Amino acid sequence: MADAPTGSKPRVVVASDHAGVEIKLAILEAVAADGFPVEDLGPETTESVDYPDFAEAVGNRVAEGTASFGVLVCGTGIGISIAANKIPGIRAAILYDDTAARFARIHNDANVAVFGARTMTVDQIVSRLRIFLNEPFEGGRHAKRVEKISQLENKPPRP
Ligand code: RB5
Repeated sequence: MADAPTGSKPRVVVASDHAGVEIKLAILEAVAADGFPVEDLGPETTESVDYPDFAEAVGNRVAEGTASFGVLVCGTGIGISIAANKIPGIRAAILYDDTAARFARIHNDANVAVFGARTMTVDQIVSRLRIFLNEPFEGGRHAKRVEKISQLENKPPRP
């Protein structure tokens, strides 16, 4: 079967920690099958790794604009989303159901989808990711709120 054309679709970068390696492979396959240009940023094996390193790899690619969307997987999705959200410009959201997947895009303009390998099935993850990658940001009143999120990156903590 010929490859799906990838020219017009946004680039997606995917990474996990050791807990998410198998699910990462299923994600890469599904995203490529849907015609998105997609890159695997590791890890390659299930040897124990530190999830902040992979959150950083994906977050930097999205923040610098060489990828439009990131996908991250750890055991629960929690550690890797906390780490990714430390990178300026990253809005990482754990997609705990289909509605969250939709609203993370249309209201929050999330640019990194996060999943828990120990808390979600492959089918749930692929369904949520397909929703996420195909929903546009609605803008309007939500743009002001997303801008306020960005401003928090530069605000010193109050005493
Ligand atoms: C690794 O065992 C685990 O801590 C990690 O995958 C993740 O669940 C952290 O939030």
